Amino acid sequence: MSWQIEGFLETRQGHLTIDGADAVEMAREYGSPLFVFGERRIRRNINRLKRVADVIDCPLKLCYAAKAMSTLGILRAVKDADCDVEVNSGGELWKALKAGFSGEQITFNGTSKEVWEIELALENDVYAIQVDSLFELSLIEETAKRLGKRANVSLRLVPEIESDTHSGLQTALLTSKFGMMPDEAYSAVREHVDAPHINICGVHLHIGSQNPDPTVYAAAFETLFESLLRVFSETGQRLRHINLGGGFPVRYLDDNADDLDSKQHAMLAADYEPSDAIRPAWESVRRAAKDADAEHLLEGLTLLLEPGRSIIADAGICLTTIRNVKSRPTADGGEDHWLLTDAGFNILLSMETYKWYYHLISAGRPDDPHHISYKVAGPLCDGGDVYFDIEGENRLPEHRLLPADTRPGEVLALLNCGAYSLSQASQYNARFLPAVVLIKADGTPKLIRRRDNFEDLISADL
Ligand SMILES: Cc1ncc(COP(=O)(O)O)c(C=O)c1O
Repeated sequence: MSWQIEGFLETRQGHLTIDGADAVEMAREYGSPLFVFGERRIRRNINRLKRVADVIDCPLKLCYAAKAMSTLGILRAVKDADCDVEVNSGGELWKALKAGFSGEQITFNGTSKEVWEIELALENDVYAIQVDSLFELSLIEETAKRLGKRANVSLRLVPEIESDTHSGLQTALLTSKFGMMPDEAYSAVREHVDAPHINICGVHLHIGSQNPDPTVYAAAFETLFESLLRVFSETGQRLRHINLGGGFPVRYLDDNADDLDSKQHAMLAADYEPSDAIRPAWESVRRAAKDADAEHLLEGLTLLLEPGRSIIADAGICLTTIRNVKSRPTADGGEDHWLLTDAGFNILLSMETYKWYYHLISAGRPDDPHHISYKVAGPLCDGGDVYFDIEGENRLPEHRLLPADTRPGEVLALLNCGAYSLSQASQYNARFLPAVVLIKADGTPKLIRRRDNFEDLISADL
């Protein structure tokens, strides 16, 4: 079966097992829907990214993008795998500290930072605050002065690099909301050489998420190196780090999604080794440095990467149970068999907003032929809560293939669900947020988030 991952996703005694644990039994024990993560898979993904260090001649600092999934148990698993963290809000910063990350292990992004968030970052001496505008730089400077601190900041650039990813995931274009124009960034550096409360120590960009074309990393790296060079030639200041963001893809598509729009198909099927993307990028920067007689600028430099999806997406599976079935005549005289699950867009928002594809298999009989077409939908009282493209633009398959006679009570598994799913979840329709189980590195399942209860539905209501 093409979805199998040896040692992680397998069939044993006829059932899907996740890191050795029976998926159907877990859904029964912990309640459905249920998210299950594998710590060994998280470690494997982090180690795969760390191989980037072998293709560059400078230290690598790997910072997990916490927004992809920030349940404390997952943050702790990331930390235990010797990976640092990137946060996007005071809340994520607080969670990262709670999970045990030190300030030195944290980079702080975000486009609308409030003073209390900047204070929290400064009080904890984070590695860098990524600055998104000149206004924000002045806010950080004021706050640092008041607290008697010197803020480490890096400037987020808008490099105008286009990626073939989903438009909502493009972040390096002038039309996107992120970052500063290069000239603004250079003037900021000029004005802050030797500033007592601001230490501009890096430049940053993030091209986009799920980038299908690995060559965008070379373009991005060259842009960052040009900034390094220009900053040095105009101010004599050496930057200590370059941050290339995240964006390495995860292969979401299985064989049977051929009816998708071709661009969507290429994006969801993207698959390459991060080190294969960074190797040529580093080589071209080395050449550029040599040509400019500026190889010394690469000495003492650290390369930061901030991957989220490529660490957590394929380590997480969403188990859902079929709660209802029906048949409906179709316009062409046929019949559709509908399956209504208990996993809606309240826990898989990207399926509705970005038409993100998650491969679906039967957890109780994964090796049976998956050859019968079903219309699949979630439980929400919302017409958009369906597993196909309700706008009819072929961004998701019309039908899902599952075994014959799939019926209520059966457990299904949505694969590659670990990133940007539970972290975007809501209690829409007053549905309980699901439990999360982490299969620990020693193979024992551990509940790391309990399922909501009635009280959780009103816990903040006054
Ligand atoms: C600034 C920044 N860094 C890192 C990431 C993580 O990206 P990914 O999950 O695709 O690796 C994002 C996501 O969009 C981002 O905006």
